[in-house]
Amino acid sequence: MCGIIGYVGEKPAAPILIDSLKKLEYRGYDSAGICILNDSLKTYKTTGKIADLESILPEGIEGTIGIGHTRWATHGKPNTINSHPHLSGDVAVVHNGIIENYLRLKEKLIGDGYTFKSDTDTEVIAHLLHSHLYGGSDSQSKKCDLMTAVQKTLPSLEGSYAIAVLCGSEPGLMVVARKDSPLVIGIGNGEIFAASDVTAFLKHTKDVVFVDDNEVASIRGGSVEFFDADGNPVTKETTKIEWDIEAAEKAGYEHFMLKEIHEQASSVHDTFAGKISEMEGTIILDELNMSDEQIRHMTRIEIIACGTSWNAGLVGKYLFEQLAGIHTDVDTGSEFRYGYPVVCGEVLTIAITQSGETADTLAAVRGARSYGCQAIAITNVVGSTITREIDSVLYTRAGPEIGVAATKSFTTQLITLYLLALKFARIRGKISAEDSKNLLVALKKIPADIQKILNKKAVIQECARQFADAEDYFFIGRHLNYPIALEGALKLKEISYIHAEGYAAGELKHGPLALLTDKTPVVAIATKGHTYDKMLSNIKEVKARDAIVIAVANKDDTEIEKYVDVVLRIPETHDLLSPILSSVVLQLLAYYTALERGCSIDKPRNLAKSVTVE
Ligand code: F6R
Repeated sequence: MCGIIGYVGEKPAAPILIDSLKKLEYRGYDSAGICILNDSLKTYKTTGKIADLESILPEGIEGTIGIGHTRWATHGKPNTINSHPHLSGDVAVVHNGIIENYLRLKEKLIGDGYTFKSDTDTEVIAHLLHSHLYGGSDSQSKKCDLMTAVQKTLPSLEGSYAIAVLCGSEPGLMVVARKDSPLVIGIGNGEIFAASDVTAFLKHTKDVVFVDDNEVASIRGGSVEFFDADGNPVTKETTKIEWDIEAAEKAGYEHFMLKEIHEQASSVHDTFAGKISEMEGTIILDELNMSDEQIRHMTRIEIIACGTSWNAGLVGKYLFEQLAGIHTDVDTGSEFRYGYPVVCGEVLTIAITQSGETADTLAAVRGARSYGCQAIAITNVVGSTITREIDSVLYTRAGPEIGVAATKSFTTQLITLYLLALKFARIRGKISAEDSKNLLVALKKIPADIQKILNKKAVIQECARQFADAEDYFFIGRHLNYPIALEGALKLKEISYIHAEGYAAGELKHGPLALLTDKTPVVAIATKGHTYDKMLSNIKEVKARDAIVIAVANKDDTEIEKYVDVVLRIPETHDLLSPILSSVVLQLLAYYTALERGCSIDKPRNLAKSVTVE
């Protein structure tokens, strides 16, 4: 997740862009840059935060039109060269999104004589624009105007983008476009803003126009014109934003947690985008520094993580064992670091940590590496401590997570584990291309499936309201749904302060059944799969003790209704993928329960977002 801003007006652009980028910093902050168009383009970029960028700017930069970007690295390291704006001749572009076919485009552009300076996907946009404008890397004579060049470039881009573009030979003009990444225009008095979200310019204007997918806008002076993908003019409505700055940062949601739950449709997509070849049923993980030979000879996987990330690790265990046939252990960082681990043979350590800073996970991974293990990190934070101490880093593309309770970081960790397990399974010959393709087809549908759950969240809210006074809650599941039960319980207890426990459903009869009363809600994750019938038996055991059963079940399951009090539905999906969807249901259940109880949702008592102490 990155943030873009563009300004066309009468005031000096640089301070306005810097101020706006500070508002967008929550979207990413590993590097930043601006480009100002006066007589020519002047570009300033650096790694670090917006304050670092501000500190390198000369006094009094002239120019009243400019673009800016705050970056959260996806392709290429967070360094100055990879930071935006990217230039090709006198064309400058900032981009939020992911160009999935950039490697193919890059090869073609290199063949056409273009030289790439960065490792980013965005640089292909700059060169494509230039090639349409000038007809080639060496040419100086213009073949078309900037607007036409943008319209010719967009159809070749696969993936998502919100872009703002300037051209040195067309002073006063900025062109913006979007597909599957947010872009909003602010209409000020004699000035126009374009940004990833309204917070960037809210202090200047509350009149906004939301750009829709495949639309392009041309901004000049104090006015803006919109066009559809075919270049036809489009009339757009202006909306008055009623939010104050604080509400705007949450995009109008009451809490960051709810906003982040909603962002999962896109963060999950971003995490697998460009990494799967559906046609061949294969996974492309260029960042994985492991040869096929090493993957074939691996004897064991040791997953190390804490809290929610540990729950993701448990899902990983089932996936690595079932799909790739690799024995997998999962340890919490705090236990592993003081244990006597048997680390022999070709063991791969996988550290899962959203922040990349959790002290126990870091110490445990250092320990594992001291035995000579190859180690991978799955993390969300570019440049975090773990990324500097590890052989390979697989980034989740959740974007910054502000709410203390992990939501989108969890589901994107799951996606990364599915990708890794499938990759290992294919290389070790444990899954056929056909089965792999089927799984990938279903995986590509997951963002839309998540959206369907979000669209019907009122049912979950009503369920949460009904049982918000419960003193205890139990969550049960089997196989892949067992870690989801643990995660459901963790989410509920940390933000609603209701005592909640997660169990492997078969374990209830070994003790916990004694705690059930007619006031205890038991959430049974009973999605379709090979343990479904066993789950029904467990549900009957629970009902026989008069407890309340809330089932998480598939959309078309009519059987389950006979045995439970409430059914929360997930869309039909591949059995192996249903845990991702069930997690979203349980996050909403926890959120609405905490809301009903008036809890401090984004900052629960006694907890911190990143636990950097032992
Ligand atoms: C719970 C939660 C924590 C973290 C844990 C590990 O919602 O967020 O349990 O998962 O503190 O943090 P990371 O993943 O940053 O290592």
